[in-house]
Amino acid sequence: MGIIGGEIGYRMLRAIGGEVGRSVPHAPGPLGDARMIECFGADIFERLRGLTVIDFGCGGGEQAVVCALRGAARVIGIDIQDSALERARALAEREGVADRCTFAKRTDEPADIVLSKDAFEHFEDPGAIIEIMDGLLGPGGRVLASFGPTWLHPHGGHLFSVFPWSHLVFTERSLIRWRADFKHDGATRFSEVAGGLNQITIAEFERIVAAGPMRIAEMDTVPIRGMAWLKHHAVREFGSSLVRCTLVRR
Ligand SMILES: C[S@@+](CC[C@H](N)C(=O)[O-])C[C@H]1O[C@@H](n2cnc3c(N)ncnc32)[C@H](O)[C@@H]1O
Repeated sequence: MGIIGGEIGYRMLRAIGGEVGRSVPHAPGPLGDARMIECFGADIFERLRGLTVIDFGCGGGEQAVVCALRGAARVIGIDIQDSALERARALAEREGVADRCTFAKRTDEPADIVLSKDAFEHFEDPGAIIEIMDGLLGPGGRVLASFGPTWLHPHGGHLFSVFPWSHLVFTERSLIRWRADFKHDGATRFSEVAGGLNQITIAEFERIVAAGPMRIAEMDTVPIRGMAWLKHHAVREFGSSLVRCTLVRR
């Protein structure tokens, strides 16, 4: 997709981006309510009270633990990274909710609500994940998903957005080569970086949902701060910091 590649692209990235990844060690997210409310609405803790919740793509477990602290009866955090699951277990232990939280790579346990925060742009196969989520929901259950920035946002490339839209300006090869200077997981494509990065757009997400067993019951986008006009459908791909939606069974 990008246009600047080869040795020139790599050298430019080294000069502009340095080794940004090295300066961002994993830091646990805040354990407060604010981000949960921003992502899932002011009534999120009411909605979870007494229920079984799955947190899909739970990372270090911050949201899962907050759910348990704020009244969920049981929380199952799912992630593909062992290191994230270990951090999540330690956090639940520290916060005194380990008896109500389980962290694993998969589960068969049915849930009332599947939460997913900042993970849909990382799942290698989002359609397959929606099918799994659907299979885990009990009657009347729903998926509450919040994710972004998506691929066409100025920072949609996450680590690869060393400046706005740089992930679209440089070729995948040059971006991956630059990243390999300070990340040594052997990734050769965006999709292979630890935790994944699938380049999803908002329109693609809608198409993927439409092809699966669930439907979008509610959806809105949160524009870049101070730029409410970016909520308009014609420009939402470029200016939505967050996509929030509820999926229900068809
Ligand atoms: C950006 S992190 C978000 C973590 C957490 N939800 C948060 O908001 O702090 C995305 C997470 O999704 C996880 N992930 C990616 N693909 C996954 C999959 N197929 N199944 C479960 N988790 C996955 C990654 O390992 C990563 O921890």
